[in-house]
Amino acid sequence: MNIIDPWKSVEVKDYGKLMKEFGISPIKDLYKKLPIKHHYFSRGIIFGHKDFSKILEAIKDKKPFVMMTGLMPSGKFHLGHKVVADIIIYLQKLGAECYVAVADIEATLTRDVKREEARKVALDQYLLNYIALGLKSKKTKFYFQSNGSTEYNNLSKYVSKKTTFNEFKSVYGNLNPEKIISAFTQVADILHPQLKENGGPKPVIVPVGVDQLPHINLTRDIASRMKSEYNFVLPSSIFNKMLPGLQGGKMSSSRPESYIALTDSPKTVEMKIKKYAFSGGQPTTKEHKEKGGNPDVDISYQYLTFLEESDKKLKKIYDDYKSGKLLTSELKQITIDKINSFLKKHQDNRKKAKKKVNKFIFKN
Ligand code: TRP
Repeated sequence: MNIIDPWKSVEVKDYGKLMKEFGISPIKDLYKKLPIKHHYFSRGIIFGHKDFSKILEAIKDKKPFVMMTGLMPSGKFHLGHKVVADIIIYLQKLGAECYVAVADIEATLTRDVKREEARKVALDQYLLNYIALGLKSKKTKFYFQSNGSTEYNNLSKYVSKKTTFNEFKSVYGNLNPEKIISAFTQVADILHPQLKENGGPKPVIVPVGVDQLPHINLTRDIASRMKSEYNFVLPSSIFNKMLPGLQGGKMSSSRPESYIALTDSPKTVEMKIKKYAFSGGQPTTKEHKEKGGNPDVDISYQYLTFLEESDKKLKKIYDDYKSGKLLTSELKQITIDKINSFLKKHQDNRKKAKKKVNKFIFKN
């Protein structure tokens, strides 16, 4: 059995194998029951789930349900972070009450981020962009781990009684005290929307990348052992693929040549795509026209699978690139234009969002 380490960058080569090994179910048939379509589902960007049918039922029966997730406040907000934000906002549109945890305790313990710095990044980078992307303040609780309620804090301690050190080691592999505290804090993040003070037990959906799977599994096990006291509904989860970095691998805030930030200028976007975006094209135009390109490894094309909502347009780009009709420089230009037209609107929205930030912050 392999172990996923949520504190290291996880690269998945074979999603099918991963799903089998870790008990993630394919979402292929289920998503069609959703009342609002999203291309992240139909294109397999959201590829798997645990217990998602509980959420579909709540939507169908118009019963309350919660979207709960957390963010690591370090570095600049980039296109990879946008994917998670889009999913949060989509679930809000479906009627979810939203809980967003700023993992400032985890960032301080595991990444040496100072508390004040974490706060600033969470507000200036994350919250501002979430609002600009469409998050509404109604039914949203945006909170800091370091500023949770007494019941939330107590829960983060009581959950420790429901597991063992051996279980921890088998879930996480390498451990230290900071990781243990971070894990229990995250368990409390995921379970506290079901506390009495928050309206009691209800379905909760946690949208995450697969790197967070160990936390989801531990939380579900702990929740099942707390049934008699709290009557928790086991939290559900959906898993999304990560947007790749410009040169392949991970898009990471610590490497500017890997990311496109939502504050990048049109010139920077153009330079980054032209200079860094890995190409699936042939070395010469002549060869490209003869043999065609490979959209499946081409990063500019991969970005369009996230950004271009029209299936028809996307398919044409795929076919034309594969046949060699569309050149690498032309494909890159399509992606540059797509990103820049999104950013132009987004940067306007960011200015407007500044006025709304205060409405969101949950105070105890
Ligand atoms: N550990 C998560 C990360 O590294 C952040 C996080 C904290 C989180 N609490 C959470 C994610 C609750 C999902 C649910 O990004």
